[in-house]
Amino acid sequence: MKTVLVTGGCGFIGSNFVRLLHQRGEHRVINLDKLTYAGNLENLSEVEEGKRYRFVKGDIGEQALLDRLLNEEKPWAIVNFAAESHVDRSILDASPFLQTNIAGVQTLLEAIRKQPVERFLQISTDEVYGDKEGKEPSSEDSLLCPSSPYAATKAAADLLCLSYRRTYGTPVVITRSSNNYGPYQFPEKLIPLLICNALNELELPVYGDGRQIRDWLYVEDNCRAILAVLERGEIGSIYNIGTGEERNNMAVVHAVCAAIAERRGVELVKLQQHIRSVIDRPGHDRRYAINTSKIRADGWQPRVDFAVGLKRTVDWYIEHLDWISHVTSGEYRKYYDAVYRETWGKEQRV
Ligand code: NAD
Ligand code: TYD
Repeated sequence: MKTVLVTGGCGFIGSNFVRLLHQRGEHRVINLDKLTYAGNLENLSEVEEGKRYRFVKGDIGEQALLDRLLNEEKPWAIVNFAAESHVDRSILDASPFLQTNIAGVQTLLEAIRKQPVERFLQISTDEVYGDKEGKEPSSEDSLLCPSSPYAATKAAADLLCLSYRRTYGTPVVITRSSNNYGPYQFPEKLIPLLICNALNELELPVYGDGRQIRDWLYVEDNCRAILAVLERGEIGSIYNIGTGEERNNMAVVHAVCAAIAERRGVELVKLQQHIRSVIDRPGHDRRYAINTSKIRADGWQPRVDFAVGLKRTVDWYIEHLDWISHVTSGEYRKYYDAVYRETWGKEQRV
């Protein structure tokens, strides 16, 4: 049984990935997570500690902890999901992003120089390519042109990984996916924020004109792609992962309202009345678009179309109201006010 060290496994994509590995039953999974505001043990409550799973609370930036863990577990591979992951938080304060997304990755890379693994998979993002409005979709060798502090730290991490590959022969592989959505996503990102707010009859905030374009990927499709790259990806290579479907934010807001109206049997217009145009995010990228032919040549393709994925996601949130109230208490209120009331809080009706 191969041991995989997953970092950030208590977050959104990480917990979905740990669940996938656990269901496959072929790996021992060590989950190293600092449990920041975004990390939640509840996300993996059904995965029991034992021969096939171990949870370790800790920071990817702690060299001594990494040395000990690698020595104890001798993992075959590391998959690094651990990150500060939200653009808006990086605009409020970039420091933790530099700490975890850059210094943390360098600490991991140093740890495996001392105690090698066969693969180091860095989970990156299409945001490293920057705004693709009016441009061709990015392929893996396109220029990096990050716009937000978040994206800049992810681009820096990618470059560090590639430099370690060339300089020290570190066996890095990188995935860059588009926007994920699905169960267990923290309600600061667009789709879960809209769902949670709609369920509580709160405002549905749309930044600026709402015509910004994203490619929405169901989280389980991304996790299958990550597993394929972990097992078969070429060392030193980068893989874009996305559906290729473009949707603007206003269309997403209306789709969320429709899915909730149908599921709850409420009038659609009642939900739509809560849509608010709010001050735009500074530096907001208008469009992300990636070319995914490389990963598709390996046999991967998305299976869950947007309408189906959104319905599943809405169902999950409705069935997990306790989860919503746990993660939206305390710190979340302060964050919400900082973005929507103080910094970008000037409201105007659509
Ligand atoms: P998330 O914010 O939901 O989870 C991040 C996890 O990392 C949390 O469990 C947190 O506790 C943990 N963590 C943070 N700092 C840590 C540290 N210093 N040491 C150990 N653990 C730490 O993030 P997510 O949305 O699941 O994203 C996972 C990865 O995927 C990130 O690297 C992100 O950049 C990337 N990504 C996300 C998306 C998306 O749409 N969510 C898209 C493309 C790429
Ligand atoms: P988000 O989920 O934060 O992902 P990213 O910025 O990394 O793409 O946002 C997705 C899109 O939705 C993005 O164009 C910003 C926009 N957005 C809103 O219009 N309102 C909101 O309250 C949030 C959180 C995002």
